[in-house]
Amino acid sequence: MVKAVVAGASGGIGQPLSLLLKASPLVDKLALYDVVNTPGVTADLSHISSIAQIEGFLPADDGLKKALTGADVVVIPAGIPRKPGMTRDDLFKINAGIVKGLIEGIAETCPDAYILIISNPVNSTVPIAAEVLKAAGKFNPKKLFGVTTLDVVRAETFVQGITGERDPSKTVIPVIGGHSGETIVPMFSQAKPAVKIPEDKLDALIHRIQFGGDEVVEAKGGAGSATLSMAYAGFRFTESIIKAAKGESGIVEPTFVYLPGVQGGEEIQKETGCDFFSVPVHLGKEGAEKVENIVSKANDYEKKLLEKCYEGLKGNISKGVEFAQNPP
Ligand code: NAD
Ligand code: LMR
Repeated sequence: MVKAVVAGASGGIGQPLSLLLKASPLVDKLALYDVVNTPGVTADLSHISSIAQIEGFLPADDGLKKALTGADVVVIPAGIPRKPGMTRDDLFKINAGIVKGLIEGIAETCPDAYILIISNPVNSTVPIAAEVLKAAGKFNPKKLFGVTTLDVVRAETFVQGITGERDPSKTVIPVIGGHSGETIVPMFSQAKPAVKIPEDKLDALIHRIQFGGDEVVEAKGGAGSATLSMAYAGFRFTESIIKAAKGESGIVEPTFVYLPGVQGGEEIQKETGCDFFSVPVHLGKEGAEKVENIVSKANDYEKKLLEKCYEGLKGNISKGVEFAQNPP
């Protein structure tokens, strides 16, 4: 039996993500939580003839607690999205508090659940979550993940113009670091099968992956950021977590984790100076089993990208930790 919860279920990401989870044969129970509109979204999805039994909750009458009770996986796309001209860090003021509140609920009600954070800025909201869980004595670094799958999906898609591969998802491209601008580091040197990017195309390709989010924000002209591609990416990652939890082996996904808490992570922490980092993680029954030290395999071009990544990422992480330790 797998119970999944979506917190922020009525939003641009929340609705299509809930649809995908409702349709998934891997989910037995699905709880939708949001501060608005969950009765409507739940009624709508409940007519789909799939396995998952669905329930919706609002904050009234202990709704968060009811949604979270018995949860195995909690996916969090709650919070405001960017408008043109904003950085993800501009979302911190509002989203930091939203994530903190939800994680406090998880610590109290379902501390053993896998926690998948989509809310931006991921580079800071995941450290906030870790601190809140630590303070409650419930932190399991193997089960806390920042969802950076959309960067991987973009890398797969944008490189297709060069590889000509019919199905872009068949090329595995690790994207590591964080989830904003220059903290996003695609590692084409480690692509499988190997990909040869012409030198004159590499800068533009890397830039497009790092700033792919801006492309969508601009195109939506003030109506939000990536929602459908994020729902796809969020679902893909959630499915991997559930499959691994059910015992499927060989599942590896880049995701933003607390390095010292996962086998192999300390080495990368020393190398990068960052406590949190997205790296390919081997997923198993207990969550993050071990991380791959792909950082040490970077070529000279990627080393330069990584130096810039560390600079930005360290500040984002400290900001999250500081917020959680000394709330304003
Ligand atoms: P949205 O505004 O459409 O939806 C957000 C939802 O969160 C709304 O329904 C809102 O009512 C709900 N919400 C607000 N406070 C809440 C609370 N305390 N508890 C539960 N629900 C709450 O926004 P969106 O487009 O779905 O984006 C959501 C977040 O995901 C944003 O922060 C965005 O930047 C982020 N995002 C991350 C990635 C990624 O790759 N990690 C990709 C795209 C978007
Ligand atoms: C993305 O990468 O699309 C998301 O992080 C949303 C954003 O603000 O760009």
